[in-house]
Amino acid sequence: MKNTALITGSYGGLGTCFVQTHGKQGGDMILVGRSEKKLAAQAEEVRAKYRVEVHTIAEDLSQPEAAQTIYDTCRENGWLPDILINNAGFGGQGDFARERTMEQISP
Ligand SMILES: NC(=O)c1ccc[n+]([C@@H]2O[C@H](COP(=O)([O-])OP(=O)(O)OC[C@H]3O[C@@H](n4cnc5c(N)ncnc54)[C@H](OP(=O)(O)O)[C@@H]3O)[C@@H](O)[C@H]2O)c1
Repeated sequence: MKNTALITGSYGGLGTCFVQTHGKQGGDMILVGRSEKKLAAQAEEVRAKYRVEVHTIAEDLSQPEAAQTIYDTCRENGWLPDILINNAGFGGQGDFARERTMEQISP
């Protein structure tokens, strides 16, 4: 693999942008997310579009053992990431000043 990016949350909003940008540059990828089905569909599309090597790891990153499992999977398969784009996550939407109390900001 060459110029390999490990991208978490790859099929979400910003994740898809990171994947497309890296693919355009000819970089290989290891895509991480919760849904095996969505990862497989994305990997197929990206391989066909950019002719790059793409592997997937289905993991729920909220689980304490997830990072170790991802590390072990990469090691076992000889996948060596050059770049980590640790994008998976979630956030609220709305008017921050109106919708957040001081307790929520600083419990
Ligand atoms: N969009 C913004 O304006 C903005 C601003 C500041 C920071 N951010 C941060 O940038 C990141 C991406 O934002 P986004 O707007 O693109 O979010 P998004 O559209 O909700 O996509 C988030 C991605 O992360 C994955 N994900 C969430 N929880 C996960 C978990 N426990 N394990 C594995 N994958 C998980 C989601 O997969 P599932 O669909 O399977 O849950 C999805 O692919 C987030 O960390 C967010 O907090 C975004």
